[in-house]
Amino acid sequence: MANTMNFLLTALAFISLSNLAMGSFNIMDFGAKPNGRTDSGQAFLAAWAKACRSRRPASIYVPAGRFLLGQATFEGPCRNSRVSIFIDGTIVAPNGYSSLLKWMHFVNVNGLEIIGGTLDGRGRALWSCKLAGRRCPIGATSLIIAKSKNVLISGLTSINPELIHISIQYSHGVTLQKVKISAPNNSPNTDGVHVQNSVGVTVTGSTIRTGDDCVSMKAGVENVLIERVYCGPGHGISIGSLGDVRKEEGVQNITVKSVVFSGTQNGLRIKTWGKPSTGFVKGVTFQHSVMYNVRNPIIIDQNYCPSKINCPNQHSGIKISDVSFSNIKGSSASKVAMTFDCSKKNPCTGIGLKNIKLTYGKIKAESFCRNAGGRSSGSVIPPSCL
Ligand SMILES: *[C@@H]1O[C@H](CO)[C@@H](O)[C@H](O)[C@H]1NC(C)=O
Repeated sequence: MANTMNFLLTALAFISLSNLAMGSFNIMDFGAKPNGRTDSGQAFLAAWAKACRSRRPASIYVPAGRFLLGQATFEGPCRNSRVSIFIDGTIVAPNGYSSLLKWMHFVNVNGLEIIGGTLDGRGRALWSCKLAGRRCPIGATSLIIAKSKNVLISGLTSINPELIHISIQYSHGVTLQKVKISAPNNSPNTDGVHVQNSVGVTVTGSTIRTGDDCVSMKAGVENVLIERVYCGPGHGISIGSLGDVRKEEGVQNITVKSVVFSGTQNGLRIKTWGKPSTGFVKGVTFQHSVMYNVRNPIIIDQNYCPSKINCPNQHSGIKISDVSFSNIKGSSASKVAMTFDCSKKNPCTGIGLKNIKLTYGKIKAESFCRNAGGRSSGSVIPPSCL
């Protein structure tokens, strides 16, 4: 018996050592505690340092359990072409809220995989503060991928962030697949996936239920594919707001297809401030999607001017062109199912409508156009006003 025990222990030690040799780092070996109460920050950072310094692709393992993690920056560049983080457990943010803007922050990493796991941002305390109209911090984004390349996030679940669930910034080649995002519909500012200044972002096979935009794309975003995504509750898939500042990069080559919107505020929206700016939006394809009870299924709004400060009587400088909507059907929760409210100074051009069927209960739905040009083909209901 003792001999068998010894053999097993030796074998385990050997496996553990060979894992180290192969660059596999279990956060438990660095002192992490799966009890949800003990701060495991040092363990995460120590495992990251080992994995990132490894000369071969390396991995970090987060086993089952709840691991408390405070604000953490996982910084590259790393010495290898890929660090993989396999998560079986839940990573939980500290309770209460602080004035930090970031929770988990990956920066300057070329080759990163985050597989499985749950991130619990514990945003409730901050939402209550915001909902009560008190003065509160902005809040922390749960997961930020910044200045990174070749990133895969697969099978990750994000719940209850203080602010944004996942934010992609200044990055190149980021794929999100089978991601599950969830927060209540009254949680303020909890965008699902936020993208800015990034090229080559794919979101597929994912479910997004949240209190703000399911996906939001800001200035400097190119080559995005969003496919097979469920959105709702939430504010829909949004390009914008754009043009808040005078000098801004454009947004181009965005494809959204096979998306189901359910009970959302918007379906596909392009929103720009009504004031001068150098930005543009061109080459947007929106196809094969279904709307269930969506307030604004299709909407371009170039007159965004909340609080009527610094923009009344001005016109958006953002030029919107080549935006096509095809094979979109379902129900609108308001009478105007399609809105193209473009800039007087920069009318929308090349708007395409093809095979649309949006209904509004038993009443006929309508479309609204201002400064918008383009063409429709096939059957378009409500009738096009382009
Ligand atoms: C547009 O974006 C897609 C990714 O959605 C990419 O595959 C394609 O090459 C891009 N097209 C151009 C012209 O860059």
